[in-house]
Amino acid sequence: MTRTGSLLLSAAAVLTGLLPGARAEFEETCAGLSKQLSVPNATVTLADFVAAGTNLSLPGLDPSCGPPFTVAPADICRVGLTLATSERSSTKMEAWLPRNWTGRFVATGNGGINGCIDFASMAYTSNLGFAATGSDNGHSGQNGTTMLNNIEVVKDFAWRALDTSVDVGKHVAAEFYGKKHDKSYYFGCSTGGRQGWKMAQDFPENFDGVVAGAPAFAFNNLTSWSGTFFSIIKAAGADGFPTQALAALDAELLRQCDEIDGAKDGIIEEPSLCNFRPEALICSPETNSPSSECITGKQAETVRKIYSDLHGINGDLVYPRMQPGAGILGMIYGIYGAADEQFLYTDHWFKYAVYNDPNYDTSVVTPQMMADAWSKDAGRINTWSGDLSKFAGRGSKILHYHGQEDSIISSANSNRYYDHVSRTMAKPSGELDDFYRFFRISGMSHCQGGPGATAIGQGTGSSASLDPEENVLMAMVRWVEEGQAPERIVGTAFVNQTESLGVDYKRAHCKFPLRNVYKGTGDVKAIESWKCI
Ligand SMILES: *[C@@H]1O[C@H](CO)[C@@H](O)[C@H](O)[C@H]1NC(C)=O
Ligand SMILES: *[C@@H]1O[C@H](CO)[C@@H](O)[C@H](O)[C@H]1NC(C)=O
Ligand SMILES: *[C@@H]1O[C@H](CO)[C@@H](O)[C@H](O)[C@H]1NC(C)=O
Ligand SMILES: *[C@@H]1O[C@H](CO)[C@@H](O)[C@H](O)[C@H]1NC(C)=O
Ligand SMILES: *[C@@H]1O[C@H](CO)[C@@H](O)[C@H](O)[C@H]1NC(C)=O
Ligand SMILES: *[C@@H]1O[C@H](CO)[C@@H](O)[C@H](O)[C@H]1NC(C)=O
Repeated sequence: MTRTGSLLLSAAAVLTGLLPGARAEFEETCAGLSKQLSVPNATVTLADFVAAGTNLSLPGLDPSCGPPFTVAPADICRVGLTLATSERSSTKMEAWLPRNWTGRFVATGNGGINGCIDFASMAYTSNLGFAATGSDNGHSGQNGTTMLNNIEVVKDFAWRALDTSVDVGKHVAAEFYGKKHDKSYYFGCSTGGRQGWKMAQDFPENFDGVVAGAPAFAFNNLTSWSGTFFSIIKAAGADGFPTQALAALDAELLRQCDEIDGAKDGIIEEPSLCNFRPEALICSPETNSPSSECITGKQAETVRKIYSDLHGINGDLVYPRMQPGAGILGMIYGIYGAADEQFLYTDHWFKYAVYNDPNYDTSVVTPQMMADAWSKDAGRINTWSGDLSKFAGRGSKILHYHGQEDSIISSANSNRYYDHVSRTMAKPSGELDDFYRFFRISGMSHCQGGPGATAIGQGTGSSASLDPEENVLMAMVRWVEEGQAPERIVGTAFVNQTESLGVDYKRAHCKFPLRNVYKGTGDVKAIESWKCI
């Protein structure tokens, strides 16, 4: 029997599940794969059958990528490759090819400035029958040092490691199953959200459906903005940030803005309508000294800066303000202000990608630095093209989501991008709807979690079910394969944000530019009590 014949037979056996010994044959095909695979500029490092439930150890994983083990939830053929992307750059990738294959291919993204294969998303998607791939994005760990004087590593991080691993991953899957995939998908959040958008903007052939959350697009400006919190907080000094009054500020913010959507439930549905006034909490002359109840004028100024748009060298908008939401000031302090060092991603990006100077002082991100970063656009990472005509023209779809309590990437920038696409393509929402839909997830932190109904199928443990109504990945599958586009995304809030404790409530999140309002009657926790206007 020819190689192709044997692969076809095993694929058929897998797909029907009727033949006895399907698993044995799957294992055998997997074991033989490393010898059969021929991929230019690639080394196959492993091709192992992994039985469902195996706790895989990941020796050599950079500690900044997380613990060195991961569980594979379904029977898979696990393939590892190292791909040369240029003469002085390479990327490590894996393909997890499930025994129970649906004919779907999915590529997963990365996060932050890493350097880490997203094993959690590969586990989630391979368990749903997708042939899943992930790459380390051209370097190892949460680290930008290898970008120093090596634009090839920057290019890998910006787009090439993903693009190359998608080509190779599709080829490996086709070799393994003996047939090409039917539909291809992308699934990522944060840097992964930016990567999804980069594909839609510049590599429109790669995917039929893209799910892109909390995108780190306008990347250079995001990185500049992220770097301003450190200097705002440091310049304010030890008593200039209201650490003692965070709870009071959260309560005051909700007092001012929670009921704009009609419901007093601690969740702000439409942060762009909230113009938080921290001055309301300034201590009266009698109390005078700051406490857990009130703040100084200087502290109010710090809070105001945090919630203000960032402008640059000619007064240009660099990045829109942090969207207001309870809990965000505390997060900002923890992420950007509590340490003695500039935020790692900003520090590394300016030192190793923008200026190629490991001694560059990044503690204050000046307007000149912001302008330099944007115009240099190292590796073409900005990811801000508003022209999706090629992507739309081939029939591809993109589902964009963003948490409205994201303390790392302001969701205000996602609203801005949607409008940018609308203007660039001269299409109103009714026409963008054909290929681009954006959902704002109230009460969601960065990519997941938070007090709202935030489980929307972002991964294992963040998925109430596989119903396309409440699972962004399956919503995309239905859109691509059946032409039924999502009108809303139902999110689930688990009791105490813990899946095993059961469902607290669900809420349907609206498609931009619609916003969610409470109808005025009925249980605030009931879906029917809300409408999109
Ligand atoms: C997997 O193995 C590691 C190391 O042996 C262990 O710490 C971890 O708890 C295991 N995970 C599961 C889910 O069994
Ligand atoms: C292999 O790598 C070399 C050097 O980086 C490159 O020029 C060539 O195009 C690559 N070949 C393929 C098939 O990707
Ligand atoms: C295989 O996937 C189908 C749906 O695609 C599902 O109904 C079936 O239960 C799966 N079988 C196994 C063994 O996982
Ligand atoms: C980045 O990698 C370099 C070289 O491996 C290492 O010395 C440094 O500690 C790393 N930095 C961080 C923040 O992980
Ligand atoms: C990024 O910031 C620069 C100024 O530093 C500005 O000229 C440019 O328009 C900004 N781009 C976006 C997408 O905001
Ligand atoms: C949820 O958390 C609250 C506060 O921490 C606690 O009092 C309550 O018992 C928890 N509920 C459950 C079901 O665990």
